[in-house]
Amino acid sequence: MSDKKTVLVLFGGMSSEHEVSRSSAASILRNIDRDRYNVRVIGITKKGAWIETAAPPEMIEDGTWINRINNRNAYICPDRRVHGIRTEKGKDIRIDCVFSVLHGKYGEDGAMQGLLELAGIPYAGSGVLSSACTMDKVVSKVLANEGGIRQAEYCVLDWFTFATQAAQELQRVEETLGAYPYFVKPANTGSSVGVAKVRDRNELFEGIKEAAKYDEKILVEESIVGRELEVAVLGDRHPHASPVGEIVAADEFYSYEAKYGGMGSVAEVAENLSEEVADRIRETAIEVYKLLGCSGYSRVDFFLKGEDEIYFNEINSLPGFTSISMYPKLWDAAGVPYSELITRLIENAMDEDNNN
Ligand SMILES: Nc1ncnc2c1ncn2[C@@H]1O[C@H](COP(=O)(O)OP(=O)(O)O)[C@@H](O)[C@H]1O
Ligand SMILES: [Mg+2]
Repeated sequence: MSDKKTVLVLFGGMSSEHEVSRSSAASILRNIDRDRYNVRVIGITKKGAWIETAAPPEMIEDGTWINRINNRNAYICPDRRVHGIRTEKGKDIRIDCVFSVLHGKYGEDGAMQGLLELAGIPYAGSGVLSSACTMDKVVSKVLANEGGIRQAEYCVLDWFTFATQAAQELQRVEETLGAYPYFVKPANTGSSVGVAKVRDRNELFEGIKEAAKYDEKILVEESIVGRELEVAVLGDRHPHASPVGEIVAADEFYSYEAKYGGMGSVAEVAENLSEEVADRIRETAIEVYKLLGCSGYSRVDFFLKGEDEIYFNEINSLPGFTSISMYPKLWDAAGVPYSELITRLIENAMDEDNNN
């Protein structure tokens, strides 16, 4: 019998980032070390159906995987005797490690991590509490504040209060944040879904209404004018930080279209950054990672205002993971190629001593 471990790649999901997840999964399937791992794949549809598939990466990427012959219903079984997946015919398949690229709601927020904890299956990335905290932009801001991390001024709104007293709430935001423009965001999305830059009260009102489609908790922030820098962090007890990356957005800000609409935004290793500032950003990234209790991996995002003012923006515990996404790109620049990165994350998750 082979001693190859079986890895389950989970993708799709009931989140606004479903499509991005399909691209991350396709990249992983093209690059995972198949000499080392047997690979199983389950896609979760937008409606929440769990389907095991042998579709090639191209079909996963373009969404046609759903029509693939021989797809079958299969799901992670919480019964620890199974330690894996149960198919529609009641067949059990042992899984040694789960590599989930379910970005956003139900994937990145601790829900899936909770199921995997119950099932007793190791998985790449952060645990339940940390996933829940990093997914919620308000909670992560509060925790970062505790650690004295500098970030944009912000105001938190809840839709129900706003719906009954909009005028007072708009005024409260303006009094707290001062001059426009602001950024409005749902507390719990990613990929810039529901994010808007607003320049006056009217736009603020519209932005809040739009953000409320995604979450009843809404964040409004002062706008930071500066460079957008990102750091890839890897590890558990002794996390490492990658070189600093930079986003050059093709839109007025790094909107959904600028990220995925083929507008030509650039994500690359940052140039023209002093070593001192780069080191400080990398240290802050590790600080934030630890404050939020992350493990496995996360991408920590910043703004750099002027020459040396570092503002923490957000942390992503399940960052985009296509081979050209920032997270793998930064590790590649640090000498860890994409397929080795996948191996590291899997081995790290399965390492019981957790001494990484
Ligand atoms: N306070 C801010 N100042 C300036 N730009 C911002 C601010 N907040 C967000 N942005 C812009 O909006 C984009 C998306 O916001 P972000 O908080 O990163 O949400 P997401 O989780 O959807 O990526 C950022 O990449 C940046 O371009
Ligand atoms: Mg972001």
